[in-house]
Amino acid sequence: MAVLHLLRVFFTGAHRPPREVNWIFGVVMLLLILGANFTGYLLPWDQLAFWAITVGTSLVSYIPFVGDQIGSLLLGGPEVTGATLLNFYSLHISFIPLSLVILMSLHFWRVRKDGGLTVPRDIGEAPIERPTRVTTIPHLVRREAVWALAWIAIIITFSVFVAAPLEGIADPNVSPNPAKAPWYFMGIQELLLHFHPFVAAIVIPTVALAGIFALPFIDHSKEHEGIYFRSKRGRSLAVMATGFSLIMTSAWVVADDRFFDWTNWLANWPTIISNGFIPLALVVMALALLDLWIDRVLKGTLEERILFLFTFAVVALIVLTVIGVFFRGPGMELFWPWDMPAAH
Ligand code: HEM
Repeated sequence: MAVLHLLRVFFTGAHRPPREVNWIFGVVMLLLILGANFTGYLLPWDQLAFWAITVGTSLVSYIPFVGDQIGSLLLGGPEVTGATLLNFYSLHISFIPLSLVILMSLHFWRVRKDGGLTVPRDIGEAPIERPTRVTTIPHLVRREAVWALAWIAIIITFSVFVAAPLEGIADPNVSPNPAKAPWYFMGIQELLLHFHPFVAAIVIPTVALAGIFALPFIDHSKEHEGIYFRSKRGRSLAVMATGFSLIMTSAWVVADDRFFDWTNWLANWPTIISNGFIPLALVVMALALLDLWIDRVLKGTLEERILFLFTFAVVALIVLTVIGVFFRGPGMELFWPWDMPAAH
């Protein structure tokens, strides 16, 4: 839901000044939500939980210099044990929800201080009709209460009738094959199959996150406020970015799986270069060429180029996640979902 909301905010241009601070609160909340989900994932303490967290936290060890220290701080030791369970449980029920409650209060306060939701501005002759303003109590609070109660009722009913799956008790000696991270990190785990871990788990996620934080400061035009995809042309560009990304990302995954063999082709090079920065440079070059094409040939504005690249990246992440979740089987090999051998 938070990601959908982020997409809504970006595609209507609501991240731009004066709302840049609220965008940043939002990104921090998104990270906290991932943290809540990740710490919660361990709590069933079954095989799925144990191995997903073992795989997920192993990514931390690729942070240069301090990776191992951060890892063992998080895990309460070198590997996932009862101490990790206690750590994650405390984070899950105190620090993370408390931070979220505080940030949500700030977030809602900012929505009002920034002038309410982003809506299209009146342009010239045809003024946009605005709904009449009403008071928060009872209009908004009553609706929110109804929705909250309805959702709680649905969730309770669902959990009464559908049993939560529980695998065998966590066993550090029996690793499942494949061992997958929680689904929302499968995009990164998929990247690990294509790049040196430092590039896959650190460089790409860090650059992507920095880009998301910086977005309102790069993309701050006052044009097209509150209009989905900016304009008709923007909509076509977003559709094009989606098409390009669907084809290019999946083609690249298959090509890398079948044909590219950087570590052997450049056997004398350190793998961080042969299997890290060289394929990364190729990907960056492909994106730069696309951007150049939008800029020079289609005469795209800055906001259109950002719209294109952002859409491309979001779709690429979705494609990688879907491949990781549904198309990877034992040994992390590629399979069609309908031919998938059972995990063992
Ligand atoms: C716990 C997670 C979050 C909650 C509960 C939340 C809630 C809300 C609500 C209720 C609004 C006003 C209604 C609406 O725009 O739909 C809002 C607006 C906004 N949110 Fe969030 N949000 C969350 C996460 C995020 C994230 C991840 C981002 C982006 C990184 C973000 C950025 C914004 C911005 C910029 C606005 C102003 C929108 C506008 O002016 O149209 N929020 N948020």
